[in-house]
Amino acid sequence: MSGPRQLTVDSFLVARDTLRQRHLRQALYDAGDVVMADVLVNLHGSEHRDRRRLENRLFRRDTHERYERELFPPIVSETFAPHALRGRAELVGLSHHVMMNLAAATAGVDRPHGTPEETERLYRAMMQFIEGATLAHHRGDRAAVRDRVAAALAEFDAAFVRPSVDRRLALLAELDAGTIEASELPADVLTVLLRHADELHLADDVVLRETCFYLLAGAHTSATAFVRTFDHLVADPDDPELLERARREPAFLQRCVHETVRLQPSSPIALRRAVERVELADGQVAEPGDEVTVDLVAANRDPAVFGDGADRFDPDRQLPDGVPRWGLSFGSGAHACIGQDLAAGGAPDADGDHLVGLVTVALDALLELGARPDPERPAVVDPASARGYWSSYPVVFDPTVPTVP
Ligand code: HEM
Repeated sequence: MSGPRQLTVDSFLVARDTLRQRHLRQALYDAGDVVMADVLVNLHGSEHRDRRRLENRLFRRDTHERYERELFPPIVSETFAPHALRGRAELVGLSHHVMMNLAAATAGVDRPHGTPEETERLYRAMMQFIEGATLAHHRGDRAAVRDRVAAALAEFDAAFVRPSVDRRLALLAELDAGTIEASELPADVLTVLLRHADELHLADDVVLRETCFYLLAGAHTSATAFVRTFDHLVADPDDPELLERARREPAFLQRCVHETVRLQPSSPIALRRAVERVELADGQVAEPGDEVTVDLVAANRDPAVFGDGADRFDPDRQLPDGVPRWGLSFGSGAHACIGQDLAAGGAPDADGDHLVGLVTVALDALLELGARPDPERPAVVDPASARGYWSSYPVVFDPTVPTVP
């Protein structure tokens, strides 16, 4: 008897249609269940719909605006300041720190002591969760990683999530007693979950993993896009105009982020498993149990949609109507990224007001400091990861670069 089959789709239109199929469920994070069991991206059908509906309430334009214009700029300056003083930085660590500080606010992870040591502890835990969630791509000893991640999750619970839960439960009790208004509650995922834990039948360990998932989903993808976009901007020393234009025009820098994310999606594939028989747009049929790999790298470079130069970094490229600049890198259908607008911004609205997204805001601040690859310490690709992450990317800040007025 033959087992489940593996199907693959790699053209843009078929891939997009596949991601929108209701009877294909998430399968990418099965190996990473130590942090990913029962989190939003792993839910299916009505369970997913109900939790997504609830969490969607946070991800609205007014929240994005508050993050981009009020909350995030001081986080970026404070995180960059000591590095700017030293005249150098290591971008992989720096980008994860800055994006973690933001993701902690979105997820609802307090740092009760507010010390640098506490932030380092959170950072170490988050880096373990990233390893845990991406176990499917890990080339080394997976069992050892699982054990380390489980220990980090227990420590994260005691040091961060428990105190964050207790503070929010006290506020919710005050709300019930009528001593505070709902608008005084923190605007974060943990508060939303605690307020509705009974409706959704959420156990404590699910709340813990969902909070952990938001921390890593928000931080890691954005940090990776940040470093990769910078690398594209400096890749050709004979083309300094690219970097200059990115420094002068935030809307162009935003397109550079989108183009980077198209060429290098945070996960090179999406993976789904059929729960019922599904006919894909190219005629392939997935029977229950069959796995469908959506090759996002290939779909995002499909010449039928992105043209002959689809492999080139060209932030000014013209696209057919209805095709986003980032291709399928934020997903499509029910699981499409909830944080997309927060991370990558949108188009200008009817009044010309333009949110460019947090990755662009952070890059803008980096370019303003005159960041250049460190000529003495070349960047290194992480040998343990099949996803092609940098393990270090040293930069120096050139004080002669004039600030943009
Ligand atoms: C450049 C940045 C980002 C990229 C490239 C990215 C990419 C993605 C992709 C591809 C998916 C769909 C996964 C699938 O269909 O299997 C996704 C889902 C998700 N993302 Fe993002 N993401 C980014 C930033 C963020 C941020 C900032 C947050 C949180 C604030 C976030 C939270 C989520 C969540 C919660 C889901 C699951 C949605 C669901 O299953 O309904 N992401 N993301």
